[in-house]
Amino acid sequence: MAQPKYTTHLGMVDILPDDVRKWQYLENLIREEAEKFNFEEIRTPIMEQTELIVRGVGQLTDIVSKEIFSFSRGEDNYVLRPELTAPVVRSFVEHHLEQRGGSQKLYYIGPMFRAERPQKGRQRQFHQFGLEVLGSDDPVADVEIIAFMVHIYKKVGITNTSLKLNSIGDPESRDAYKQALKDHLKPNYEKLSDVSKKRFEKNPLRILDSKEEEDQQFIESAPVITEYLNESSLSHYEKVKEYLNDLEIPFEEDPHLVRGMDYYTKTAFELISPDLGAQDALAGGGRYDLLVEEIGGPKTPAVGFAAGMERLFIACEELGIELGTKKSVDVYIVTLGDAARKWGLNHLPKLRAQGLSATMDYKGRSMKSQMKDADRENSRYAIIVGDHELESGKFTFRDMKESEEEALSMDEIFKHLLAK
Ligand code: HAM
Repeated sequence: MAQPKYTTHLGMVDILPDDVRKWQYLENLIREEAEKFNFEEIRTPIMEQTELIVRGVGQLTDIVSKEIFSFSRGEDNYVLRPELTAPVVRSFVEHHLEQRGGSQKLYYIGPMFRAERPQKGRQRQFHQFGLEVLGSDDPVADVEIIAFMVHIYKKVGITNTSLKLNSIGDPESRDAYKQALKDHLKPNYEKLSDVSKKRFEKNPLRILDSKEEEDQQFIESAPVITEYLNESSLSHYEKVKEYLNDLEIPFEEDPHLVRGMDYYTKTAFELISPDLGAQDALAGGGRYDLLVEEIGGPKTPAVGFAAGMERLFIACEELGIELGTKKSVDVYIVTLGDAARKWGLNHLPKLRAQGLSATMDYKGRSMKSQMKDADRENSRYAIIVGDHELESGKFTFRDMKESEEEALSMDEIFKHLLAK
């Protein structure tokens, strides 16, 4: 086949009709389950102001410093959203959503953009679903968020996951820890990787997330943040663990778990799958008690998570889980001759009005080709119509699965179809 002249950009993929079925299945599942948890959907624009993402996610994060898709038009600077927590917070502040009363329990599904080096499980346009609770500092909210996340993977049949949990404390705890971490790393500063050297002053916590070989020995021996938590951070963390145990949600504490955005406080978590290879994080999230104020809103503690949808599908493939149903149609009208085609076209809406899916040939093909096409479309029934059938008012009604036919009136056919 000739090479196409136009293709998608690197790291951006088309989702073709056969695949869309599993996307629709997952999206429906997320919506249904989110409603059960009493969350409401929020939809925000694909583009945001650069300043929001820089402030929200953090200037020194990989996302902002290396991966952002940005452009300007006139005076305005745009970025394609790399994640949805900062945009949801922007929307919350812009529309004073706190005035609706109670905690705002929001969910979203949609595309995100990060200019990363593409590989399996890592794309430049990828999709997330996520939940955010704004307006609660209660560990119950953290645990409901985690419970939802775990629940979705269980529902689709991905059970061999591990939940990593940490608390990175409030700013007071974190300052104490940062100092301890720097004291630990300082004697070996020269041996650290260049990236970690850069992070040393401005964002030492991110050194814990380094993948560089030379950093590993210093990370392993580093002090752990959970020993530096002040009373309020520690009691929050203890409650989260207690409630997870109550719900029998297994977790592993990982005191080196730090996340890729600067907005986190206290709880941080990730759901990992051994079936994913290098990009093993299915989902991640945590608490961000200061972000709403940072973006100009009222003091509003918050917690949330987001999950990569492509990674969920990769895990399904590895485990042999098929999501969604195969393409099919209830009725295919096979027509012979002009009068029958007209009859067919007029009867499609009548079938559809009864809640059935129905189609016919659009190409004026032979009866044999139409029967083949009905098979390819995975049709449950075919109604075969020619001049003779139109005259007699009896149509050939074929059960495609059983390979059985009967001559029936349309009333009888409808009765038959609706009894199924
Ligand atoms: P995140 O860990 O950056 O968190 O992303 C969440 C999930 O999105 C990851 O675990 C991964 O499954 C998926 N993901 C991220 N980048 C890519 C990529 N390039 N290609 C494919 N999948 C990817 C956040 O985005 C936070 N906003 C989560 C959050 C919500 N925290 C609090 N509320």
